[in-house]
Amino acid sequence: MALENIREKLNRLNLSPSFGVIIKVEQGFLLANGLSPSIGDIVKIVNEYSSTIGMVTALEENSFKVTPFSFVEGTRVGDKVYLNTKGLQIPVGNELLGRVINPLGEPIDGKGELRVEGSMPIIRPPIAAMKRGMIDEVFSVGVKSIDGLLTCGKGQKLGIFAGSGVGKSTLMGMIVRGASAKIKVIALIGERGREVPEFVEKNLGGDLTNTILVVATSDDSPLMRKYGAFAAMSVAEYFKNKGEDVLFMMDSVTRFAMAQREIGLSLGEPPTSKGYPPSVLTLLPQLMERAGKENNQGSITAYFTVLVEGDDMSDPIADQSRSILDGHIILDRGLTDFGIYPPINILNSASRLMNDIVTQEHIQAARKFRRLYSLLKENEVLIRIGAYQMGSDKELDEAISKKEGMENYLKQDYNEALGYEASINELIALMQ
Ligand SMILES: Nc1ncnc2c1ncn2[C@@H]1O[C@H](COP(=O)(O)OP(=O)(O)OP(=O)(O)O)[C@@H](O)[C@H]1O
Ligand SMILES: [Mg+2]
Repeated sequence: MALENIREKLNRLNLSPSFGVIIKVEQGFLLANGLSPSIGDIVKIVNEYSSTIGMVTALEENSFKVTPFSFVEGTRVGDKVYLNTKGLQIPVGNELLGRVINPLGEPIDGKGELRVEGSMPIIRPPIAAMKRGMIDEVFSVGVKSIDGLLTCGKGQKLGIFAGSGVGKSTLMGMIVRGASAKIKVIALIGERGREVPEFVEKNLGGDLTNTILVVATSDDSPLMRKYGAFAAMSVAEYFKNKGEDVLFMMDSVTRFAMAQREIGLSLGEPPTSKGYPPSVLTLLPQLMERAGKENNQGSITAYFTVLVEGDDMSDPIADQSRSILDGHIILDRGLTDFGIYPPINILNSASRLMNDIVTQEHIQAARKFRRLYSLLKENEVLIRIGAYQMGSDKELDEAISKKEGMENYLKQDYNEALGYEASINELIALMQ
C-alpha cells in the first residue's frame, strides 16, 4: 500500500515513470503510454493474475502500440508495461542439440528443462558484405538429382517452391538426413500442430541427432510465428560463429510472410499485392540474408520452402524469395502423377552457384542431361504417338536411348541417402 502511494506521488510529479500503462486493448495489439520505447523494444505486460511479453510495433505522439507474443485476451486497461532493455534473446548452447523448442527457447518436447549458459539476440544484422566468404565448396545433400544437377555450395541459400501436398516436407526430410552438415537447425513455422511430431517421425525417421527444431505452429500468435524464424536463424548463427557448417531449413516462408501480413494489417499498413503489406517484402531479406558463409567462421547453408498457391510462380512471396535466393528447386505436381519422387522439375530449377564449385566434367554432364531432357519434353507427344522416326535427329535419338536412365536418375526413395561421389559418377557415366 505504501509503495502504491509513493508511485502515485511520483506520477503526480510527472517524473518519467519506470513502467507504462495499457490504455486500450484492440484486436491484435495494445495501446500503452508512460514510457518512451523505440520500435522493436520488448516489454513485459503485468497484472495481478498473469504476465506476458510483447513487442513495441508502432509509436505515436504520446503512446505506443504493443503486439503481444501471446494473444490480447486476458490483458486489461491499466495493466503495467515494463521495458526489457536486453531485447529479445534466445538461449543457445550445445544442450539445444536434439531438442524441440519454441521461439522463446522454451522446450516443448517434454524432455525436461533446458539449462543453457549463453544467449543470442533474435534480431541480428546479416553478414557484412565485406565479411562474406566466397562460396567455393560443395554442400552435399544426399539427394541425387540435387547433388548432380543443382549442386549447392556451403553457404548458399535456396528455395524449394511447390504447391500444397506436392512433397516439400518429404524432400526437406531427405535433405536433413542426407546432408553433410554437422549441425542442422529446422524452423517449422505456421505448420499445423499435428504436423510437428509427424515431421519428426515420418520425415526425420525420429532421429534428432545434432538437430534442433524451432517450432511455432499455426495456433501461435503471429509474432511468435514471425520471430520463430529469426530465433531459429540465431541458433544457426551461434553454431556458425563457432566455425561449424550448419544446415538451416525452414518450412515455410509463406506462413512466415502471412504472420507479418497479420501484424502489418492490424497496425494499419496498406495491403498491396495479394493483401501483403509492404513490410513483408522488406522482412524476407532481413531473414534470408543472414544465411551464408562468413570469413574465418563457419557457414549457414539454407533451404527455405515456399508454398505457391495453385502452382502460381508469380505469387509475390515466391517472386521476392526467388530474387533474394541463389537457387530455386521447383517441385511439379505433374511429376507425382508419373511416380517421379522427389518431383523436382529439373528444367525449371537452377542453382546459381553450381558452375563455380564443381568440376568441368560434372558441368558438362549436367548440361548435357538438361539438354537431352528438354529435347525429350519438347518432343514428348511426337514420340508417344509414334510420329518420330528414329534416325531423323541424332541428338533426339540419344535422348530417347537415355530416357529411362535419366528418369531413374531423378527418382530416389525417400529413405535413401546417397553419397556425393557416387551420384556424380553415375551422372557422368549416364551422359557418356
Ligand atoms: N519422395 C517421396 N516418395 C514417396 N511419396 C512421396 C514423396 N514425397 C511426397 N510423397 C507423397 O506426397 C505426400 C505429401 O508430401 P509432403 O507432406 O512432403 O508435401 P508438402 O508439400 O510438404 O505438403 P503440405 O503443403 O501439406 O505441407 C506424402 O504424404 C507422400 O504420400
Ligand atoms: Mg509440408
